[in-house]
Amino acid sequence: MRAAATPTLIALLERDPPNRLLSGRLQNALRRLISEGHVEEGERLPSSRLLAREADVARDTVEAAYRQLELEGFLDRRPGSGTYVAAIAHGFIAGKTDAAGRRARPDLRASLSARGKPIAASGGVPDHGDAHPFVILPDVQQFPLDIWRKLMARVLTQHDRQSLLYADALGLPGLREEIARYLGAYRGVRCSGEQIVVLASSQAALSLIANLLLDRGDVIAVENPGFHGARLAFQSAGLTLAPIPVDADGIATDRLLAARERPRAVYVTPSHQYPTGATLTLERRLALIHWAERHKTWIVEDDYDSEFRYDGRPVAAIQGLDPTGRVLYLGTFSKVLFPGLRLAYLVLPESLVPAFVAGRTLIDGHSAMIAQAVLAAFIREGHFTAYIRRMRLLYRARRDSFLDAFERHLSPYAEMLHRAGGLHIASHLRDGLDETETVAAACGVGVELPTLKRLYLGGETRQGWLMGFAALSPHQAEDAMRRLAGALGRLKPGTRRGGRPKRRA
Ligand SMILES: Cc1ncc(COP(=O)(O)O)c(C=O)c1O
Repeated sequence: MRAAATPTLIALLERDPPNRLLSGRLQNALRRLISEGHVEEGERLPSSRLLAREADVARDTVEAAYRQLELEGFLDRRPGSGTYVAAIAHGFIAGKTDAAGRRARPDLRASLSARGKPIAASGGVPDHGDAHPFVILPDVQQFPLDIWRKLMARVLTQHDRQSLLYADALGLPGLREEIARYLGAYRGVRCSGEQIVVLASSQAALSLIANLLLDRGDVIAVENPGFHGARLAFQSAGLTLAPIPVDADGIATDRLLAARERPRAVYVTPSHQYPTGATLTLERRLALIHWAERHKTWIVEDDYDSEFRYDGRPVAAIQGLDPTGRVLYLGTFSKVLFPGLRLAYLVLPESLVPAFVAGRTLIDGHSAMIAQAVLAAFIREGHFTAYIRRMRLLYRARRDSFLDAFERHLSPYAEMLHRAGGLHIASHLRDGLDETETVAAACGVGVELPTLKRLYLGGETRQGWLMGFAALSPHQAEDAMRRLAGALGRLKPGTRRGGRPKRRA
């Protein structure tokens, strides 16, 4: 054995996580010693007695490791002669190693597929893990975990081991019934549980829709500005996007009707347009339905946070107005309950259900059974609607104090858009401010500002912020806004509300 091999073996042994059994770690270190080319083919390894002494392990442990590696073909043990590195095993994953003996890892990004490269380059749709100003999240501190815990214990008792098995790809029938009942009563959606597929997220629903209903190269109309998650799902399925402007009444349907590209579908967020917050008027909802009927196109209705409407009457879903079955309606529990639940749903025209069930089995089979059963009980026993009522009141109060604090601290810098619902408020920057600079200034005072410009697909582009208010107490929001205003004042001197403190005469 070369002089460096025993220290290398010991170094490899020490690099392995110490929580594993020593015998396993020694085998692993020997495997890497050989496969990474730290020793030569045919080289003699130290006797088990010598290695045991130098590595400070029991001789039996070394013997067992040598025996195991011989069985695997890494070593040749010759009675009366010694233990040798087998020819076939030597250096099979050898590559350049650095000074510390670590193999250089090749950069494989260039080997991504033509489909994979833009997905990687887009960065995907990463979500925020913790609630700080001003990320857009619901307030999970309010969620009644005690009730959830009790229901979960009951579900585990009642379902026994049934919930440990594979389950229906459509979703738990009891949950689908509850969702259908809720949607009928509160959202004006007309469907039965048989039309509902329970999925992990709206994002999964969007990918399924793009892949099952549209072909590569087909055009889908999207709101501009619009939800980047939808845009990326459609683009990664090879669809072409036709951006349609949004105004105070939601997507401009006249522009959709006049679109030269002949879209085969339109994606809309009618209750609370993402990101501007506009509500699509009834007139435009009906225009969309007529358009879809006339051209045999699809309407993808993403009703992601419609439960939280604070002013005016709730607006009924397009799905319930459509007599022809051209609407795919999606909803999520990420906003109304908590995003870690990973449960959402897609309401489909009946005849499309089998295709979507087949499609979803190719992704993840079905959603977690225990979570579905607990959620079904949570809805059935009235906790869901009670929670929505409570949170709507809380969020409305937070929205009001947010508006008030915004006016006091931030109105010199930005102008708020629609405020009737949702968990965030969008605003346009006033002239003279640059979005990127404001984000950097905000970051310097511990504030994150989700931005508006990136959500545009060409056309007239506005700079601005989307500020989540729901997960912050009024005190937290006020405090963050004060810091933000201070940082922005330094960016744009002379704009601080009230200016500098006046000198006494
Ligand atoms: C318009 C819109 N749809 C859907 C979602 C996400 O839902 P899910 O967590 O179920 O993917 C979001 C999240 O921000 C959203 O803004």
